[in-house]
Amino acid sequence: MKMIVAYIRHEAFEPIRTELLELGFPSLTVTDVKGSGRQRGITERYRGAELTNYLRPKIKIECVVDDGDLAVIVDTILKHGRTGAVGDGKVFVLPVEEAYRVRTGESGVDILQAHPDSNGAFAK
Ligand SMILES: Nc1ncnc2c1ncn2[C@@H]1O[C@H](COP(=O)(O)OP(=O)(O)OP(=O)(O)O)[C@@H](O)[C@H]1O
Ligand SMILES: [Mg+2]
Repeated sequence: MKMIVAYIRHEAFEPIRTELLELGFPSLTVTDVKGSGRQRGITERYRGAELTNYLRPKIKIECVVDDGDLAVIVDTILKHGRTGAVGDGKVFVLPVEEAYRVRTGESGVDILQAHPDSNGAFAK
């Protein structure tokens, strides 16, 4: 199991979420965050004065996935996240030791996402 942690632009989130849903990966956590990359913020002029905002708003996505699903999910984030301009963000991949569904006590990779049943329907 792996956790994908992605810092992306706000505009990229909806297309990423929509495609992950279509691919069968509805389970994720999203947080509004602020951060800085190697440009260390952005400098603007306001009424003649130079102001530097060191922190820029980003969306953080956390998504725990089966190792075999990692590549398609990362590719989806990269595809919709990339504008080519500085500040598009970063994606990190972390190892995950174990996962538990609180309601049932089940554990392991099968609890991570909404696997469709034999009729193709997702669990309610
Ligand atoms: N090493 C890091 N650790 C944690 N968060 C990071 C790291 N690098 C970037 N981030 C997060 O990602 C956001 C976007 O980073 P950003 O895309 O500007 O990275 P960059 O290395 O400066 O690349 P680019 O040159 O494309 O801008 C940052 O605002 C921060 O929230
Ligand atoms: Mg940057």
